[in-house]
Amino acid sequence: MDEALFPLAKAAMAQAYAPYSKFHVGAAIRTRSGKYFSGCNVENAAYPEGCCAEASAISAMIHAGERRIAEIAVVGKGEPLVTPCGGCRQKIREFADAKTLVHVCGPEGLRQTFTLAELLPQAFGPNNLSEE
Ligand code: THU
Repeated sequence: MDEALFPLAKAAMAQAYAPYSKFHVGAAIRTRSGKYFSGCNVENAAYPEGCCAEASAISAMIHAGERRIAEIAVVGKGEPLVTPCGGCRQKIREFADAKTLVHVCGPEGLRQTFTLAELLPQAFGPNNLSEE
């Protein structure tokens, strides 16, 4: 894992707005062009309107004009692995490919690395909608 990713994701986790679940999550992206973006989960009193950390990091990346994720780290607490939720796997797929590494971390550091294909096999993606 790129050495800057975990500290960025952990710092983002500290900024989480999660008054309902109390489950703080941070995510950090390194783009193919070598830029970094991070985000935290942002919950809402209307529960389904909350936003995951990965989605926040992707929004920051898009706002900066970047489009390709080289690798992404997610950090959350607790014993079970905090792997990206199903919706976030699909959101990552939009800007990454099957071999993109997804690093799942706890507060202490890296726990396990997956490829996106492991987390989202046989994915539907932008290629399904291209003319070629
Ligand atoms: N959450 C994330 O931000 N990312 C994940 O990968 C898993 C879950 C958030 C959503 C919600 O705010 C809280 O964690 C509990 O589900």
